Amino acid sequence: MAAPVTSPQANGAYTAPKTRRMTVPDFLAAKGRATRLTVLTAYDYTLARILDDAGVDAILVGDSLGMVMQGEPHSLKVTLEEMIYHTRLVARGIRNSLLIADLPFMSYQVSPQQALENSGRLVKEGGAHAVKLEGGVRSVPAIEAILRADIPVMGHVGLTPQSVHRLGGFRVQRDGPRLLDDAIAIEQAGAFALVVECVPADLAEQIRSAVKIPTIGIGAGAGCDGQVLVTHDMLGLFNDLRPRFVKQFGNIGSAITDAVAHYCREVREGRFPGPEHSFRG
Ligand code: KIV
Repeated sequence: MAAPVTSPQANGAYTAPKTRRMTVPDFLAAKGRATRLTVLTAYDYTLARILDDAGVDAILVGDSLGMVMQGEPHSLKVTLEEMIYHTRLVARGIRNSLLIADLPFMSYQVSPQQALENSGRLVKEGGAHAVKLEGGVRSVPAIEAILRADIPVMGHVGLTPQSVHRLGGFRVQRDGPRLLDDAIAIEQAGAFALVVECVPADLAEQIRSAVKIPTIGIGAGAGCDGQVLVTHDMLGLFNDLRPRFVKQFGNIGSAITDAVAHYCREVREGRFPGPEHSFRG
């Protein structure tokens, strides 16, 4: 686990504790361990800071921001410039977690050269430590090109949201032989980890056994080396879609609604601001 960046003291002050940043080699070394890897998404400084303080191993600036931040029905319209912008915001909030940024749709599919150049921008301008791209066998040339610049790559197989139109929707992927071929191709190309999205749990376990890199599941059961969720889903902040695999670990959306209603009531009734929030002349 990435150590928390600060620890509250009894008097409320914060000290800089012993910290250690999660690295790509640490991530690889976690393969097969009983303690699973934790990954969550973030798109801005404030949330990144909270996740990093809480000790999440890796933060993914996912192109899920197309849905969660931009209100689109899919991630296809997200641009590289937007990914760089959000990665830069998140990078400022991170001290310990590994920072992985998604390559958005059409930023790596055209040619290996395009994949390399755009990955370089996510690292150089955004501050990412690694990039993630979707696809199996067909993404091997892109991964090999990116690795020539020593930029670590995370793969993503199973339900690959950038293929939503070919797949006919966000559906569970059950083609075992193809998924195994894809996972092995990504590992052999040199990826350091692999997201496995929306596949039956037994198939995800087979994929985990077939590769030496950590598998990070989402909707893929408990038999992966780690788990990733969209933070807004697991906090109950984003309710447009409620996939079966999401567990709500909090209901922050309702907490915000209550706080805002409370604020409106107090302002309307003249109870806020009180003397303690006002200045004297
Ligand atoms: O875009 C994203 O947030 C993702 C994760 C859900 C794996 O790809």
